[in-house]
Amino acid sequence: MAKNENLGFDSLLIHGGMGVDPMGSATVPIYQTSTFAFENVDEGAKCFAGESNGFIYTRIGNPTISALEKQVAILENGYGGIATASGMGAVSSIYMAFLQSGDHIVSTDAVYGPSRVIMETYFKRFGVESTYLNTADLNAIKAAIKPNTKMLYLETPTNPTMALTDIKAASEIAHQHNLVVVVDNTFCSPYLQRPLDLGADVVFHSMTKFLNGHADIVAGIIVTKTQELYKIVRPAMVNMGCNMDPHQAYMVLRGIKTLSIRIDRAQENAMKVADYLEKHPKVEWVKYPGLKSHPQYELAQKQMKGPGAMISFELKGGLKAGKVLMDNVKLALLAVSLGGVETLIQHPASMTHSKMTPDARLKANITDGLVRFSVGIENVEDIIADLDQALAKI
Ligand SMILES: Cc1ncc(COP(=O)(O)O)c(C=O)c1O
Repeated sequence: MAKNENLGFDSLLIHGGMGVDPMGSATVPIYQTSTFAFENVDEGAKCFAGESNGFIYTRIGNPTISALEKQVAILENGYGGIATASGMGAVSSIYMAFLQSGDHIVSTDAVYGPSRVIMETYFKRFGVESTYLNTADLNAIKAAIKPNTKMLYLETPTNPTMALTDIKAASEIAHQHNLVVVVDNTFCSPYLQRPLDLGADVVFHSMTKFLNGHADIVAGIIVTKTQELYKIVRPAMVNMGCNMDPHQAYMVLRGIKTLSIRIDRAQENAMKVADYLEKHPKVEWVKYPGLKSHPQYELAQKQMKGPGAMISFELKGGLKAGKVLMDNVKLALLAVSLGGVETLIQHPASMTHSKMTPDARLKANITDGLVRFSVGIENVEDIIADLDQALAKI
């Protein structure tokens, strides 16, 4: 499937998903069709039997979507990509593909809220048990693994607490117990972190975020390390109808081309914003993997190509002060999501993580005063000036 073309990462962003288009199109065309006509009955039968690469029906596969799947599989250094309608479509497909009644999963506590909510509601209803813990603590992972544990599900850095898990070490532990290791790589993108190279089996993204990067599409993708895993996940996605639309795929293919230059700029801005916040007298603490004060600064240096563009912080005065800040920013949008060209600010306890119980939030260090900041690619002076005027109102 995905072949590792001998090009640098930036070149792969431009050329990785491209085949040769018969009409000479410089971009991947949008095959906006639900179904594909067969030459004859035998040809149709071959497609259904998997003896031909022909397309059948867009829920099963489509040339525009395939180009994107190939592109991201190459970037993640995996076997094959499986595009989904959303990041949550990717999470659901992964859970469905690997888990059954009586199984147990071990997962990072501060994961994206709905990834945990669907496990603790729907999958629990189907008899899947889960343990959520701080996966930065490798001993805690070891202690939580039971005979019926099937999956280690990691998010690193965590959303929104910016804690890191050592993917290599955690994967080694998990593989001693034959677990499948899944990593949500949304916060990094393959530009900053490649979980499959570090030992994970399955990586996925909300492509709504950095991979698309322009806050105009909701999309997801799964990449498996091996063909065997691909054959487990792909039918789960197809049969549950979590597929992407061809136009969505076109939009992400377009956004992906500038991934590295967008992240370079956002990350440069984020470093300056984190420095500014850390020195500000009204700020209680800042979590950013690029700061030496981050408890896992060394792991970030080892595991990630750069610290990324996500910052979390808390003000002295907690939630009350945070509300004044969030209600007074003018350049940053008060909005959920992340990883776009625009700077966003949000309050996880009342927004993205509001469906978790207050107790589970506190155990996962998602305090009521925590503010999440996704740094965009605007002029950094403007981002800091905006924070400055809003902080002055507290
Ligand atoms: C880390 C992470 N994983 C998964 C998701 C879910 O993705 P989507 O909103 O595209 O369904 C999100 C969305 O915010 C996220 O931040």
